[in-house]
Amino acid sequence: MAQLERAKFGSKLGVILATAGSAVGLGNVWRFPYLAGENGGAAFMLVYIGCVLLLGMPCMVSEFIVGRRAQANAARAFRMLGGRTPLALVGYMGVITGTLITGYYAVVSGWCLEYIYASAAGHFAGAGPAEVSRYFADFETDPVRPIVWMVLVFLATHWVIVHGVRDGIERASKLMMPALFILLLIVVVASCLLPGAVRGIEFLFKPDFSKVTGGVFLSALGQAFYSLSIGMGCMCTYASYFGRQTRLGSSAMQIGVIVILVAVLSGLMIFPAAFSVGIKPDSGPSLIFITLPNVFREAFGFAPVLGYVVAVLFYVLLTLAALTSLISLHEVSTAFLHEELHITRRRAATIVTATGIVLGGLCSLSLGGREWLTLFGRPLFELCDFVTGQMLMPFGGILICLLVGWYLSHKLVRDEFTNWGTLPGRYLRLFVFCVKYVCPICIVLIFLNQLGLL
Ligand code: PHE
Repeated sequence: MAQLERAKFGSKLGVILATAGSAVGLGNVWRFPYLAGENGGAAFMLVYIGCVLLLGMPCMVSEFIVGRRAQANAARAFRMLGGRTPLALVGYMGVITGTLITGYYAVVSGWCLEYIYASAAGHFAGAGPAEVSRYFADFETDPVRPIVWMVLVFLATHWVIVHGVRDGIERASKLMMPALFILLLIVVVASCLLPGAVRGIEFLFKPDFSKVTGGVFLSALGQAFYSLSIGMGCMCTYASYFGRQTRLGSSAMQIGVIVILVAVLSGLMIFPAAFSVGIKPDSGPSLIFITLPNVFREAFGFAPVLGYVVAVLFYVLLTLAALTSLISLHEVSTAFLHEELHITRRRAATIVTATGIVLGGLCSLSLGGREWLTLFGRPLFELCDFVTGQMLMPFGGILICLLVGWYLSHKLVRDEFTNWGTLPGRYLRLFVFCVKYVCPICIVLIFLNQLGLL
């Protein structure tokens, strides 16, 4: 029944754009620079790229295989294919992970909305680095404003979700992705032309391997999974909308390349400017928000109107990129509730939106120094980011690899990988080797190292 009802992505381009739309978002533009800044820059970036290619790609293809084969939401997909093993539970874990990310992700998306408003209203005009930092700190800790923006973000997401897969997600992605990319390039050039920008470029490209610790590995690994939207059933849910002709391997590679490219460009946008105006690279989650207004002010000093337009447009596109990712996160839980509880999509979406708003509200409030929203010494916001990005997603990745590498029949894997023998499947053996051995072993080693057991 559910199989007949499932929508499909309309075209090959639609598949790439929608999955890339999920992957490219705040993870690349906001999270990557702040983690790279905290973890030594270039060395982190190298480890990150290695993790995307070596561990992320096989995991992504594995998720595609599970999703397309099962043609169902993440929880049901893993239940169907995982049989009576604990691997059947991966999908449920994914729904929980997705819900946890959705809340605070919408908060950061709301910050982008505030920045559209603030730059359009000219609040950053003439503000130096110190004023911008103060503006952000005041805003971030405000009990009301960030929450209002977050609710708006959720309403927009909700609207797209109830309008269905093909119409909503696909149409949205087609337009926004290329536009964001072009604007990113413009801002990169602007940032690299600032006085003293060279030190930022060196920070990003001249690795200092003495800075590589176990923690750097775990952060880079988590960031690889986070930026690819894997390890929690999101790509699996999207793959359930793939047609039989979608090439799983090359789709994954294309997304991997896009994600790496956007991350590197985001680094090139932030660090030269940060070094130029004297912002510390390890400023944490606020890094891009306290840096960007300085780029627009300083680099476009010769033509303030142009700076104004570029700034507003940039925040608009960043918000839209965040929205496509948020939509994919929302979709995981919505498809789950819709198909498992047999309620309408609209009702399922309403439950997810309401839960997200409550969770997002708490995350946002936790940044205002409220004791009761602090756990293990971290505000709820940071805790959600850490637990999902550095623990649950890589852990989900191990389980997905175990399922595809060891549990599913080789024939099933081969069929999906080669589109039922219509593709040569040149990399099939390499893929199987990676999911069987390389990915699970590497991820476990990184975890053990972090726990101090290695
Ligand atoms: N990959 C998205 C980003 O980089 C975040 C995301 C994670 C989306 C997990 C969906 C699922 O912004």
